[in-house]
Amino acid sequence: MKTAIQSLPKMLVCHSPFIAIFAILVIALTGCGESQGTFALPEGNAESGEATFILIGCIQCHSVGEIAWEGVSSKNTIHVPLGGKVGKVKSYSELVTSIINPSHKVDKKYLQEPYTNAAGQSNMVKYNDFMTVQDLVDIVTFLQGEYQLDRPRDIDYYPNW
Ligand code: HEC
Repeated sequence: MKTAIQSLPKMLVCHSPFIAIFAILVIALTGCGESQGTFALPEGNAESGEATFILIGCIQCHSVGEIAWEGVSSKNTIHVPLGGKVGKVKSYSELVTSIINPSHKVDKKYLQEPYTNAAGQSNMVKYNDFMTVQDLVDIVTFLQGEYQLDRPRDIDYYPNW
Protein backbone atom coordinates (compact mmCIF):
# COMPACT_ATOMS: atom_id res chain seq x y z
CA MET A 1 0.00 0.00 0.00
CA LYS A 2 1.29 3.44 -0.90
CA THR A 3 1.99 5.97 1.80
CA ALA A 4 0.39 9.38 1.65
CA ILE A 5 3.73 10.96 0.68
CA GLN A 6 4.27 8.58 -2.26
CA SER A 7 0.89 9.29 -3.71
CA LEU A 8 1.14 13.03 -3.11
CA PRO A 9 2.38 14.05 -6.58
CA LYS A 10 -0.33 11.97 -8.26
CA MET A 11 -2.88 13.38 -5.86
CA LEU A 12 -1.81 16.94 -6.64
CA VAL A 13 -1.82 16.50 -10.38
CA CYS A 14 -4.88 14.30 -10.79
CA HIS A 15 -7.17 15.35 -8.03
CA SER A 16 -6.41 18.99 -7.66
CA PRO A 17 -5.42 20.81 -10.81
CA PHE A 18 -5.49 24.09 -8.91
CA ILE A 19 -2.83 22.92 -6.45
CA ALA A 20 -0.77 21.52 -9.32
CA ILE A 21 -0.88 24.81 -11.24
CA PHE A 22 -0.07 26.71 -8.06
CA ALA A 23 2.91 24.45 -7.42
CA ILE A 24 4.20 24.92 -10.97
CA LEU A 25 3.82 28.69 -10.62
CA VAL A 26 5.75 28.73 -7.36
CA ILE A 27 8.56 26.72 -8.95
CA ALA A 28 8.58 28.93 -12.05
CA LEU A 29 8.58 32.19 -10.11
CA THR A 30 11.17 31.26 -7.52
CA GLY A 31 13.24 29.67 -10.30
CA CYS A 32 13.53 33.08 -11.99
CA GLY A 33 15.51 34.50 -9.10
CA GLU A 34 17.74 37.42 -10.10
CA SER A 35 17.57 36.70 -13.81
CA GLN A 36 17.00 39.41 -16.37
CA GLY A 37 15.93 38.35 -19.81
CA THR A 38 15.85 34.76 -20.83
CA PHE A 39 18.68 33.17 -18.89
CA ALA A 40 19.74 33.08 -15.24
CA LEU A 41 23.36 33.10 -14.16
CA PRO A 42 24.48 31.85 -10.74
CA GLU A 43 24.85 34.39 -7.98
CA GLY A 44 28.09 36.37 -7.86
CA ASN A 45 30.30 37.52 -5.01
CA ALA A 46 31.38 41.18 -5.20
CA GLU A 47 34.47 40.70 -3.02
CA SER A 48 35.81 37.87 -5.16
CA GLY A 49 34.91 39.92 -8.22
CA GLU A 50 37.04 42.81 -7.03
CA ALA A 51 40.01 40.49 -6.43
CA THR A 52 39.60 38.83 -9.82
CA PHE A 53 39.27 42.21 -11.54
CA ILE A 54 42.76 43.07 -10.27
CA LEU A 55 44.24 39.57 -10.68
CA ILE A 56 43.34 38.99 -14.33
CA GLY A 57 44.46 42.44 -15.42
CA CYS A 58 41.31 44.48 -16.01
CA ILE A 59 43.27 47.26 -14.27
CA GLN A 60 45.63 47.43 -17.23
CA CYS A 61 42.90 49.37 -19.00
CA HIS A 62 40.39 50.26 -16.29
CA SER A 63 40.12 52.06 -12.99
CA VAL A 64 37.05 51.70 -10.79
CA GLY A 65 36.31 53.32 -7.43
CA GLU A 66 39.39 53.04 -5.25
CA ILE A 67 41.12 50.69 -7.68
CA ALA A 68 43.68 52.57 -9.76
CA TRP A 69 44.50 52.11 -13.43
CA GLU A 70 47.80 50.30 -13.84
CA GLY A 71 48.30 50.69 -17.55
CA VAL A 72 51.16 53.05 -16.93
CA SER A 73 53.47 50.13 -16.22
CA SER A 74 53.10 48.82 -19.76
CA LYS A 75 53.07 50.84 -22.97
CA ASN A 76 49.32 50.68 -22.90
CA THR A 77 47.55 54.02 -23.24
CA ILE A 78 44.00 52.72 -22.88
CA HIS A 79 42.27 54.01 -19.79
CA VAL A 80 38.52 53.48 -19.59
CA PRO A 81 37.18 54.41 -16.13
CA LEU A 82 34.34 52.16 -14.97
CA GLY A 83 31.66 52.83 -12.36
CA GLY A 84 30.95 56.24 -10.87
CA LYS A 85 27.99 58.49 -11.50
CA VAL A 86 26.13 57.71 -14.69
CA GLY A 87 22.89 58.85 -16.31
CA LYS A 88 21.72 55.27 -16.56
CA VAL A 89 23.08 52.51 -14.35
CA LYS A 90 24.49 49.65 -16.41
CA SER A 91 22.30 46.59 -16.28
CA TYR A 92 23.59 43.13 -15.47
CA SER A 93 23.20 42.03 -19.08
CA GLU A 94 24.93 45.15 -20.44
CA LEU A 95 27.94 44.47 -18.22
CA VAL A 96 28.05 40.78 -19.16
CA THR A 97 27.91 41.74 -22.84
CA SER A 98 30.68 44.35 -22.40
CA ILE A 99 32.94 41.63 -21.05
CA ILE A 100 32.18 38.57 -23.16
CA ASN A 101 31.44 40.41 -26.42
CA PRO A 102 33.12 43.84 -26.11
CA SER A 103 32.57 44.91 -29.71
CA HIS A 104 28.83 44.26 -29.63
CA LYS A 105 28.05 47.77 -28.45
CA VAL A 106 30.75 50.37 -27.94
CA ASP A 107 29.98 53.69 -26.30
CA LYS A 108 30.28 56.58 -28.80
CA LYS A 109 33.11 58.16 -26.86
CA TYR A 110 35.25 55.06 -27.33
CA LEU A 111 34.79 54.82 -31.10
CA GLN A 112 38.32 56.12 -31.69
CA GLU A 113 41.95 55.11 -31.18
CA PRO A 114 43.24 53.66 -28.93
CA TYR A 115 39.93 52.18 -27.68
CA THR A 116 38.75 50.74 -30.98
CA ASN A 117 40.48 49.89 -34.23
CA ALA A 118 39.71 51.41 -37.61
CA ALA A 119 36.88 48.90 -38.11
CA GLY A 120 35.20 49.98 -34.87
CA GLN A 121 36.16 46.75 -33.07
CA SER A 122 36.98 47.06 -29.36
CA ASN A 123 40.63 46.76 -28.38
CA MET A 124 39.61 45.17 -25.10
CA VAL A 125 41.27 41.84 -24.30
CA LYS A 126 39.04 38.79 -24.97
CA TYR A 127 38.81 36.74 -21.81
CA ASN A 128 36.35 34.09 -22.96
CA ASP A 129 38.92 31.35 -23.45
CA PHE A 130 40.19 31.39 -19.89
CA MET A 131 37.75 33.27 -17.63
CA THR A 132 35.39 31.02 -15.71
CA VAL A 133 31.66 31.72 -15.54
CA GLN A 134 32.08 32.25 -11.79
CA ASP A 135 34.81 34.87 -12.47
CA LEU A 136 32.40 36.59 -14.84
CA VAL A 137 29.43 36.73 -12.47
CA ASP A 138 31.64 37.80 -9.56
CA ILE A 139 33.16 40.66 -11.60
CA VAL A 140 29.75 41.77 -12.86
CA THR A 141 28.32 41.70 -9.32
CA PHE A 142 31.28 43.78 -8.17
CA LEU A 143 30.99 46.27 -11.05
CA GLN A 144 27.24 46.71 -10.62
CA GLY A 145 27.79 48.07 -7.13
CA GLU A 146 30.25 50.61 -8.49
CA TYR A 147 27.71 52.54 -10.57
CA GLN A 148 25.57 55.25 -9.00
CA LEU A 149 22.65 56.92 -10.64
CA ASP A 150 23.39 60.59 -11.24
CA ARG A 151 20.66 62.20 -13.30
CA PRO A 152 18.28 59.74 -14.89
CA ARG A 153 17.88 60.25 -18.61
CA ASP A 154 14.68 62.13 -19.41
CA ILE A 155 13.69 59.36 -21.78
CA ASP A 156 13.16 57.09 -18.76
CA TYR A 157 10.40 59.39 -17.59
CA TYR A 158 8.98 60.66 -20.84
CA PRO A 159 9.12 57.81 -23.30
CA ASN A 160 8.04 58.43 -26.89
CA TRP A 161 4.58 56.95 -26.98
C1 HEC B 1 43.63 45.97 -23.22
C2 HEC B 1 42.70 46.85 -22.55
C3 HEC B 1 41.51 46.28 -21.80
C4 HEC B 1 41.49 45.32 -20.82
C5 HEC B 1 42.65 44.51 -20.29
C6 HEC B 1 40.11 45.24 -20.37
N1 HEC B 1 39.35 46.14 -21.04
FE1 HEC B 1 37.40 46.57 -20.68
N2 HEC B 1 37.40 47.94 -22.17
C7 HEC B 1 38.51 48.28 -22.93
C8 HEC B 1 38.12 49.27 -23.92
C9 HEC B 1 39.04 49.87 -24.97
C10 HEC B 1 36.76 49.55 -23.71
C11 HEC B 1 35.89 50.54 -24.48
C12 HEC B 1 35.38 49.92 -25.76
C13 HEC B 1 34.38 48.84 -25.44
O1 HEC B 1 33.26 49.15 -24.97
O2 HEC B 1 34.71 47.67 -25.66
C14 HEC B 1 36.34 48.69 -22.59
C15 HEC B 1 35.07 48.67 -22.07
C16 HEC B 1 34.68 47.94 -20.98
C17 HEC B 1 33.38 48.01 -20.38
C18 HEC B 1 32.23 48.90 -20.85
C19 HEC B 1 32.50 50.32 -20.36
C20 HEC B 1 31.53 51.35 -20.83
O3 HEC B 1 31.37 52.35 -20.09
O4 HEC B 1 30.93 51.21 -21.90
C21 HEC B 1 33.39 47.15 -19.32
C22 HEC B 1 32.24 46.87 -18.36
C23 HEC B 1 34.68 46.54 -19.28
N3 HEC B 1 35.45 47.05 -20.31
C24 HEC B 1 35.08 45.59 -18.36
C25 HEC B 1 36.32 44.98 -18.35
C26 HEC B 1 36.68 43.93 -17.42
C27 HEC B 1 35.77 43.37 -16.34
C28 HEC B 1 37.95 43.56 -17.74
C29 HEC B 1 38.74 42.44 -17.12
C30 HEC B 1 38.11 41.12 -17.10
C31 HEC B 1 38.40 44.40 -18.83
N4 HEC B 1 37.37 45.23 -19.18
C32 HEC B 1 39.66 44.37 -19.40
C33 HEC B 1 39.78 47.78 -22.78
C34 HEC B 1 40.16 46.79 -21.92
